Amino acid sequence: MARTGMPRRWAFVCLNRRDEGHPRGSCAARGAGAVFEALREETGRQGLTDVKVVAAGCLEACMVGPVVYVAPDDVWYGGVTVEDVPALVAEHLDGGRPLEPLRIGAEEFALSPLAGRSDLPPGVIPPATPPGAA
Ligand code: FES
Repeated sequence: MARTGMPRRWAFVCLNRRDEGHPRGSCAARGAGAVFEALREETGRQGLTDVKVVAAGCLEACMVGPVVYVAPDDVWYGGVTVEDVPALVAEHLDGGRPLEPLRIGAEEFALSPLAGRSDLPPGVIPPATPPGAA
């Protein structure tokens, strides 16, 4: 396949890492680095020069990481493993058919212990252990 100017699809892979014990955990701690590398290798192996695998920061569905977002299809995946990568590449990144068992939606984003915390100013993360609870 010839390289074109504008990619056909992007796969954004959250590689965010948080400290051990953080209430949201992080995709990096759940194996996102290996998923990212496997996606890059598999898209190359399948010759998909018009698909970009991109490192991303936190995509906000941390509780079900590793999280992958595929654009422009607006499809979210959670709990992605290295074993999922060949099917994800062949079926969706190349074939355009989302892998339904891996898809996540609004429910998974709402799992965060920060969801609905209107008492916290934007950007403030509560401590992993409440003060005085140790
Ligand atoms: S740490 Fe990956 S989505 Fe937040």
